[in-house]
Amino acid sequence: MADFNEIAQGYQSFLQLPVYRDVEAFSFEKLIGDCSDLSILDLACGEGYYSRYFRQHGAARVVGVDISAEMIRLAAAQEHSDPLGIDYRVGDARDVELEERFDIVSGAWLLQYARDRDGLRAMCTTIAQHLKPEGVLVGLNLNPIFSADGMALAKYGHTRTPDHAEEGDAVCWRFYPPQAEPFEIRTYQKSLASYAWAFEHAGLTRPEWVPVSVRPERLAQDGADFWAYFLQHPPIAGLRSRAMC
Ligand SMILES: C[S@@+](CC[C@H](N)C(=O)[O-])C[C@H]1O[C@@H](n2cnc3c(N)ncnc32)[C@H](O)[C@@H]1O
Repeated sequence: MADFNEIAQGYQSFLQLPVYRDVEAFSFEKLIGDCSDLSILDLACGEGYYSRYFRQHGAARVVGVDISAEMIRLAAAQEHSDPLGIDYRVGDARDVELEERFDIVSGAWLLQYARDRDGLRAMCTTIAQHLKPEGVLVGLNLNPIFSADGMALAKYGHTRTPDHAEEGDAVCWRFYPPQAEPFEIRTYQKSLASYAWAFEHAGLTRPEWVPVSVRPERLAQDGADFWAYFLQHPPIAGLRSRAMC
């Protein structure tokens, strides 16, 4: 895994790019839907981008958990300057235990850090243990079936190598933030079957993979040709699942 303590500032700068604001965030916010009055656990909350979004859009309670103390420091600094009542904690999604259950568990860029299906199952077990009976998991992830030219993604702000990965392979992402040095993140390939296996063994329904889309205003501004490669070969995907009854 990348050491997020070292790249936290660069990651924060990356959040300004259209591929984040107008594709990832746009798609994820659509997946989340109305979060009014809901309780949300934001696993792998990073510097708190979505935790703040949830509170600003009516969530009643938000707890953000991340393994990186530096990411949580950045999140807490923003909470300090603009308090929203978000509860941030350092913790590992593979074994964190909170004494409450949530309407939604958010996992935006979490499951791809599991090295194998057992690591995935550990994260999914944490998710299942923190969902209310009717609760849902909403996530963003590397697309497990991506197989295209990962360098052709450079014009959107990041590349990925290798073009095609097998179970357990490291998948490296190089990011080009507007106001910081490029940085790399390493994630791990798991097959669709491994995701399904881990979800079911943890007590979650099989993940429903949801394609991402580009915010219409951004598409109109850049032109459909610009985003065509990204949308034909999406490197990322949304996902949704529920606690199994
Ligand atoms: C790409 S960032 C995403 C942050 C945020 N969700 C967002 O979308 O802006 C991925 C985050 O996952 C965190 N992470 C990786 N493995 C983790 C684990 N086992 N438990 C908790 N957080 C983890 C990293 O520290 C990092 O902050």
